[in-house]
Formats: sequence, C-alpha cells, structure tokens
Amino acid sequence: MPWKGEKDAYKVWLSEIILQQTRVEQGWNYYEKFIQQYPTVIQLANAKDEAVFKLWEGLGYYTRCRNLLHTARVVRDNYNGRFPSDYNAILNLKGIGNYTAAAIASFCFNQPYAVVDGNVLRVLSRFFGIENPIDSTEGKKLFSKLAQECLDAAGPGEYNQSIMDFGATVCKPVPVCRQCPLQKNCIAFNTNKVGILPVKEKS
Ligand code: ADE
Ligand code: SF4
Repeated sequence: MPWKGEKDAYKVWLSEIILQQTRVEQGWNYYEKFIQQYPTVIQLANAKDEAVFKLWEGLGYYTRCRNLLHTARVVRDNYNGRFPSDYNAILNLKGIGNYTAAAIASFCFNQPYAVVDGNVLRVLSRFFGIENPIDSTEGKKLFSKLAQECLDAAGPGEYNQSIMDFGATVCKPVPVCRQCPLQKNCIAFNTNKVGILPVKEKS
C-alpha cells in the first residue's frame, strides 16, 4: 500500500479524506497532485478556495473539500500549523470522524485508538463469528468495543494498518481463506459462515 509507514499527520489526513470517496487507484493521483501543489498544511490553508476546488474536481462531495480547507486553516491558526496529537482534539476538526481521528492518532502519534472501517468490520465479524448487523446501533457499539480490545497497545499504528491491509488483501469481500494464517481460529471459517458475514441491516 502506497501510504505505508507515513507519519506526517497532514499527509495521513489528506490521503484518508480523499480515499473516503474513491478507490485507491484513482484517489492516489489526487493525493499526489495535492501534495505537489501544497506540500504542507499551511500552504493548503493559504491557498485560494477556487484553486483547491479546482484540484478537487472529479472527486465529488464538495462539502468535504470545504471541510478540508476549513480544517487546514484551523490547524494553521489554532495549532501553529501542526495537527494536534490528542484524539479528541483531532476528532473536533471538521470533516474528521472516528475513523480518521483514530488513523491520525495511531499512525502519527502512536496513540492507542483502533480504526474501524469496512475492512476491520469484515475481519472482526468473520474471525469472531459475530452476526449482529455492522450498521445497527448496537452493532456499531459492539464492534468498536471489540476493535479497541483487539488493538495492540504496544504498536497501535502498525496494528491498525495491518488489520486494514489484511481485510484488503486476504479477508476480502470474497476472501482467500485457503491462504489465510488465521483460518484455524476463525469462527466464520469453522462454522461455514464466511459467506453470510458481515451481516448488514440495510442491504
Ligand atoms: N483505505 C484508505 N486508507 C487505508 C489504509 N490506511 N489502509 C488500508 N486501506 C485504506
Ligand atoms: Fe477471513 Fe477466511 Fe481468514 Fe476467516 S479464514 S479470517 S474468513 S480470510
């Protein structure tokens, strides 16, 4: 994965925001254009709105581009151009939800916050054989609690990146169980439920 080991919070933030609405192959080109044009968050903050919107063209979801600019300016003005390392401070920035806050906190600042995205939900639901819908209110609570319990506090960034990569390459929507190192202990595999997990309330 191209973002592997990135510790610069600006770069992690920018790539995660862009990749929220596009696949990696397309999104990465946008990411590289942004970094080339605006190598630091201060340069992005100082940009003209129109220039940034122009660069964003084709990605859609223009509210996210607004939020991007807003947050860049908050980081410039309130945090001396450096992203905060505190999870709740990160979470308070516009356009940043639990997933992105945990990604920044763990990858860049080694803080023990588990990321929960589609990859993680798929892996956890299958490995632990959990049939609660991942998009239900209790399901969301249950899976974030479980994700947090599984997190390796000694290396939260590496752990988070590993479980997402595992979901993207092995425990894919159509998984490669034959080559999976977790097969022996995987409840879905051992109970023939790989095909029905994860369960969704709304399909
Ligand atoms: N998709 C978007 N960001 C990702 C990441 N950090 N790891 C794996 N897949 C991702
Ligand atoms: Fe996923 Fe299959 Fe591995 Fe279980 S055995 S974790 S379902 S890839």
